[in-house]
Amino acid sequence: MSEISSLFSYFRLIFFLFILFFCGMSFSSELSNYSGPGDNKDGYNSKDYETNSLSLSDRKGKSADLIKFVTMKQLGLPKLDIPKDNPITREKIELGKKLFFDRRLSLNNTMSCGMCHVPEQGFTSNEIKTAVGIEGRSNLRNTPTLLNVAYNKFLFHDAREYSLENQVWQPILAHSEMAMPSFGFTIKKLELISGYKELFEKAFPGEGINMITFGKAIASYERSLISGNSAFDKWYFGGDQNAVDESVKEGFKVFVGKGNCVSCHTIGQNEALFIDDKLHNTGVGYAESMGLLSSKKTLVQLAPGEYVEVENEIIESVNQQKRRNDLGLYTITENPSHRWLFRTPSLRNISLTAPYMHNGIFSNLDEVIEFYNQGGVKNELLSPMIKELNLSKREKINLRLFLESLVGENINILIADALAAPVGDLTEDDPNWANKKDMGYNK
Ligand code: HEC
Ligand code: HEC
Repeated sequence: MSEISSLFSYFRLIFFLFILFFCGMSFSSELSNYSGPGDNKDGYNSKDYETNSLSLSDRKGKSADLIKFVTMKQLGLPKLDIPKDNPITREKIELGKKLFFDRRLSLNNTMSCGMCHVPEQGFTSNEIKTAVGIEGRSNLRNTPTLLNVAYNKFLFHDAREYSLENQVWQPILAHSEMAMPSFGFTIKKLELISGYKELFEKAFPGEGINMITFGKAIASYERSLISGNSAFDKWYFGGDQNAVDESVKEGFKVFVGKGNCVSCHTIGQNEALFIDDKLHNTGVGYAESMGLLSSKKTLVQLAPGEYVEVENEIIESVNQQKRRNDLGLYTITENPSHRWLFRTPSLRNISLTAPYMHNGIFSNLDEVIEFYNQGGVKNELLSPMIKELNLSKREKINLRLFLESLVGENINILIADALAAPVGDLTEDDPNWANKKDMGYNK
């Protein structure tokens, strides 16, 4: 009898392990598919193309305890400085996340932060060079990733902002982004949307919804998007020789040696942020200002396998704003020697955040590497650190493989967590003319 029951429990154990194995497998393969545009467009140039994109309702996420990524040590990353007046808490992160994906924070209830900083597209937009805001309004610049944004001393491509708490208001109020009419209007609207008052009370007891608490909440969510422990970190800082291939190690040699990349994308003794908190002229901005990068016509794909050539003048004519000349740091200092200076971006998770540079001019890393290989674009203010490199084909490939090894270990967890967040869509209870519930005018 006891033999039979032990045999039975033995089978039960095997069965249990079997189920565990399959659950684990399906879960991990589900997670590993998260990263990348919903519709990866492989084979889009063929008329037989079939989309693999999922409707929003088919996409499932999984909430994570993000605060642990802020407090735990991740290889390759230094300890994070958190502002003393905004200690990070779970309540603030959760509130910030809800606000981040709330489309009601835009004038016509359509545009959230997360629609430009798309989680599964590296918290940027992989499919467009420069950001498109409310009602299709064009922006001048490429959307930067928010992964590890907490480590940036300067924000924006021209370094015009310094704190995540303050930065939040710029996209909310920008005419070409979320176009809210004022600080006060935004705050009042939030007060009238059911649920927010309570959530702010939990996160900021006794403070209410105001300019400061709003900024602190979103900043707390952004600050939790920390991602290290990449394959590179495990090898370079963790000493695991098998974490990366020989080609990655060779690529790293190019990065710190012949390529001279490390002189701007710096790395330290115990950590590597790949930023130097400075701005440089690589020639990208100059080339755009001088029209060196643009052709007269653009090939526009209308549907799988269907292309038309469109004169750039026609494309420009439908832009709401005339494309301004983007002079980088000069825009905020007006110092002529600051023309075309742009901030050094981090290279962590770089293979997830195409297209590249402040104007999204390069669509893949090979193009970026070729650009540096040719010594950028010559101009009177070109950084002396940008020179022709004469890299061999092998060296260029290895350099790319090294850059690809910088994807953080928890990326899929961060994306899954974002996908599990509620998307704030207009409901019948919200203040809106269509619901005959406006903000209380002429009453
Ligand atoms: C229309 C698309 C769009 C929307 C919506 C948007 N952003 Fe951005 N974001 C951008 C672009 C483009 C930049 C770079 C602008 C520049 O450098 O001048 C940027 C820059 C940033 C930066 C600076 C990152 C860095 O490394 O410098 C942060 C932080 C940020 N956005 C957060 C937010 C938050 C929070 C929201 C919602 C309140 C938001 N964004 C909404 C497109 C968008
Ligand atoms: C003189 C400093 C400097 C050097 C040297 C340098 N970079 Fe950069 N890098 C920058 C700056 C500044 C930008 C942003 C330029 C812009 O936005 O127009 C940038 C952008 C990039 C980007 C795009 C990042 C993004 O998110 O869009 C990649 C990739 C990159 N560099 C890789 C490299 C590699 C590889 C090397 C070596 C071959 C290198 N860089 C050498 C300063 C430098």
